[in-house]
Amino acid sequence: MTSLLLVNTKVVATPLGRDAVYGPHQGELAEYPEAVVRCEGRQIAFVGSREEHDRRFPPAEQELDAARGAVIPGFVDPHTHLPFAGFRETEFDRRLAGESYADIAASGGGIVATVAATRRASLAELVELTVRRLDRQLLHGTTTTEAKSGYGLDLDTELKQLEALRLAGRDHPVEVVPTAMPGHEVPPEWRHDPDGYVRLVVDEIHPAIAAASLAEGVDVFCEKGVFSPAQTRRLLEAAHTYGWRISLHADELCNLAGAQLAAELHAASASHLLHVSKEGIAALARAGVVAIVLPGVSFFLRDRFAPARALVEAAVPVALATDCNPGSSHTESMSMIMNLACLGAGLSTEEALTGATLNAAAALGRADRLGSIEAGKQADLVVLDAPSPKHLVYHFGVNLVRHVVKAGRVVVRAGRRVDGT
Ligand code: NIG
Ligand code: FE
Repeated sequence: MTSLLLVNTKVVATPLGRDAVYGPHQGELAEYPEAVVRCEGRQIAFVGSREEHDRRFPPAEQELDAARGAVIPGFVDPHTHLPFAGFRETEFDRRLAGESYADIAASGGGIVATVAATRRASLAELVELTVRRLDRQLLHGTTTTEAKSGYGLDLDTELKQLEALRLAGRDHPVEVVPTAMPGHEVPPEWRHDPDGYVRLVVDEIHPAIAAASLAEGVDVFCEKGVFSPAQTRRLLEAAHTYGWRISLHADELCNLAGAQLAAELHAASASHLLHVSKEGIAALARAGVVAIVLPGVSFFLRDRFAPARALVEAAVPVALATDCNPGSSHTESMSMIMNLACLGAGLSTEEALTGATLNAAAALGRADRLGSIEAGKQADLVVLDAPSPKHLVYHFGVNLVRHVVKAGRVVVRAGRRVDGT
């Protein structure tokens, strides 16, 4: 088994645990000054002082010099829409000139514009676009990402998106967690009969995705003018039969009690939550649903921020995600998201780091294996060109990621992709 020793660190900073943490624990990090981290094979074998390491272990086959940088767990991005084609920069200009996201969608732009471009794209084009996004995520310290379909909205294109994800992730260091989301929008050809589209998804699209084993979760955009709570429930009825983890886009543009629905359906996560009510927050806390806060959307659409502080104070585990998509949050950078979560939504830097690592892993059912630096967990590590993880937020707008280790292999060295080992 290959061994790798991370040396010359300023600090190793990490949340601890094998499940989501919440309340006051969200902001508690373990900090090991000048510690070493030993990886054996894919796993972390030891975190602690060099002296103790040398007493207990033989010399490692390789060393990685952290150059007095801080070491944190690899970021987990638990909500993205990676496999899309086409960009919407002209819509961005229109929004800068004062048009709203809803106006643009009503005039044929928005999600539907990306659906048209994604339907036209070949599988090979989608794979290439997705790989480039995974590369960018990795260079910014993300070692695991969720990614959804939902720009196909017909059987062939939903399958094409998920197949593109599978191919893009196959040999990529970033671990990809695929989610089926034909429930992202009602496609133009079904506008006259949204319930007919819901039937098509339930009877044909979801079963085909499940039969091809192309997803491990399912998501629905529960929103006024998209899918009602009743339609959302119908779309998610068979999820357990397929063994799918449930997530919802909930209470984003208005309050439809989406958070309460997520709790009732035993969803793993509920995302957005800009308009979540007090009752919704209480329901999430009771059911242990992870709230995925997407402050990139609030920033990009100049909208309000989700009540992240109130969620933490109500003991809801909060995770952070980019929501990387061409319309409402076009970024792969989790440190940018941490910055917005602190400055826009009131989290502390420690709470934001837990949200971008351990709680994000919990939202994907992977907190037992990912999201923190502890013996027995997978060795997914980021070495920063900074002495403290606080710099991820405080030193904003730049990429401070120097090295990335994925499953015990160095995959980014001095800011560049390397083949591994
Ligand atoms: O997560 N909320 C719905 N869907 C996306 C936006 C997609 C788009 O504009 O293309 C989101 O923000
Ligand atoms: Fe989304």
